[in-house]
Amino acid sequence: MITIISSTSRPGSNTFKVAKYYQKRLQEKGAEAGLLSLTDLPPTLIATDLYGKRSAEFEPIQQIITQTDKFLFIIPEYNGSFPGVLKVFIDACDFPESFYEKKAALVGVSSGKYGNIRGIDHFTGVCHYLSLHVMPLKLHIANIKTELDADANLFKEDTVKFTDEQMDKFIKF
Ligand SMILES: Cc1cc2nc3c(=O)[nH]c(=O)nc-3n(C[C@H](O)[C@H](O)[C@H](O)COP(=O)(O)O)c2cc1C
Repeated sequence: MITIISSTSRPGSNTFKVAKYYQKRLQEKGAEAGLLSLTDLPPTLIATDLYGKRSAEFEPIQQIITQTDKFLFIIPEYNGSFPGVLKVFIDACDFPESFYEKKAALVGVSSGKYGNIRGIDHFTGVCHYLSLHVMPLKLHIANIKTELDADANLFKEDTVKFTDEQMDKFIKF
């Protein structure tokens, strides 16, 4: 099972729109793809789950992570890297079994022109620490406001081509 992680807790994020697009395309390709948004993290997370006091609210999220073999992280660029809430989420998950010897694909999203290249590199380091195997083809979607149409679909020919290629490779990965 693939789980797409929309890796920000910002309401109305472009990251969530890109995550929904990936989910739709993966399902059209016949893959089972769920979507977990970090907007759904319990607000008490830091006081409860971060250091081992598992909350009833986080338990279903942990179950999704445990059952997932492949993670597709859609990661916005915040202050030149990945969002802090993504690291809090990773730190709150059961270690090491949540991500150990599993697989990941990474997509960077930014309003600026770099598509979160640095944040994707930073997060790749975290994945390697966790023994979470990262697929070599990582995508960087810059200038996100010009990439989504009125229905929140990616529409530019090269973006559609490269995201499709990434999804096809991830299904086989
Ligand atoms: C806290 C914060 C920091 C940000 N820092 C950057 C940045 O360093 N570089 C950049 O290109 N965009 C930056 N942005 C803009 C985001 O890349 C932009 O909002 C984009 O739509 C992806 O984020 P979103 O999924 O929250 O919408 C930042 C946005 C926020 C909320």
